[in-house]
Amino acid sequence: MIPGKRRAAVMSFSVAIVGALLLQSVSSQNEPSISSSEHTTLPVEGDSYTLQCNLTSAHSVHQESYWMKNGEEIPETRTPNRNTEYRLNKPRGDDAGVYMCVYTFEMSPPANATIEVKCAPEITGHKRSENKNEGQNALLYCKSVGFPHPVWTWRKFENGIFREIDNSTGRFFISSRDNYTELHIANLDIGLDPGEYQCNATNMIGSREEKSVLRVRSHLAPLWPLLGVLAEIIILVIIIVVYEKRKKPDDLQDDDDPAGPVKTNSTNNHKDKNLRQRNTN
Ligand SMILES: *[C@@H]1O[C@H](CO)[C@@H](O)[C@H](O)[C@H]1NC(C)=O
Ligand SMILES: *[C@@H]1O[C@H](CO)[C@@H](O)[C@H](O)[C@H]1NC(C)=O
Ligand SMILES: *[C@@H]1O[C@H](CO)[C@@H](O)[C@H](O)[C@H]1NC(C)=O
Ligand SMILES: *[C@@H]1O[C@H](CO)[C@@H](O)[C@H](O)[C@H]1NC(C)=O
Ligand SMILES: *[C@@H]1O[C@H](CO)[C@@H](O)[C@H](O)[C@H]1NC(C)=O
Repeated sequence: MIPGKRRAAVMSFSVAIVGALLLQSVSSQNEPSISSSEHTTLPVEGDSYTLQCNLTSAHSVHQESYWMKNGEEIPETRTPNRNTEYRLNKPRGDDAGVYMCVYTFEMSPPANATIEVKCAPEITGHKRSENKNEGQNALLYCKSVGFPHPVWTWRKFENGIFREIDNSTGRFFISSRDNYTELHIANLDIGLDPGEYQCNATNMIGSREEKSVLRVRSHLAPLWPLLGVLAEIIILVIIIVVYEKRKKPDDLQDDDDPAGPVKTNSTNNHKDKNLRQRNTN
């Protein structure tokens, strides 16, 4: 009884395995196959580069094909043809990425092929300068195009060269993802932090970098204009006081001066009038 049962179990098990293997081979025989352009690296020779996919065999009637870049469908690339092309005109850094042609079928799931277009990173945006007060936080950033996404590093100009940032104060924070990097400096130190910083984007094809200037002002700086105005007022007051004090003893002479030589005849009358006025006061 027992051996018979076991034999039956073994047999049905092997049937199941063979069946599965058979099914597998049948379906892989019918897998659609796509012949596609090789991966490439920019820059390319010539004005344009054409990506191609040819559907060479299919298990069922195909409907249409379209192109994708970095996981998103490229508009207006749908065609019912078995051979499809996507043309890159004067390809530059932002044309780099992962391209894919996708074929859809009436009775089965879509099939696709991938073409990688690689390029050294290009830094397309960065903060040229940052002006902050001591104790505040600074934020520098760089962003890039190019593929594969770069590895980012930050350096600081010290003693004539760009060096690894000294983080012994624990105030430097770098966060990078894909085509973007950020350098965050907390609690700015006016003695240590001002200077030139550099972001460096490096992938397997090449490397680029850009500079940012960080300026740190004393936290008294916002008060300077106010102090300036105060100082001006004080100086003015002093000048006026001193002038008034000096003016009193030679009052008469000062009053005569503007009269000038032309009016010399009337000067005496004038003087008399002044004297009289003062006496009445
Ligand atoms: C696709 O087919 C066209 C026309 O037959 C041929 O010129 C081209 O080289 C093919 N491309 C690929 C990637 O197989
Ligand atoms: C491309 O094909 C693979 C299997 O070959 C599949 O896992 C993937 O989801 C397909 N991608 C798209 C965008 O159709
Ligand atoms: C950076 O990458 C993200 C996704 O990876 C993309 O959406 C964005 O457009 C890219 N930016 C640039 C400047 O390439
Ligand atoms: C700097 O030090 C702080 C505190 O130890 C740490 O959290 C941070 O990740 C460090 N930054 C870098 C760029 O190493
Ligand atoms: C950028 O970083 C890469 C890799 O660390 C290095 O080889 C290259 O010299 C750096 N470029 C500059 C200008 O520092």
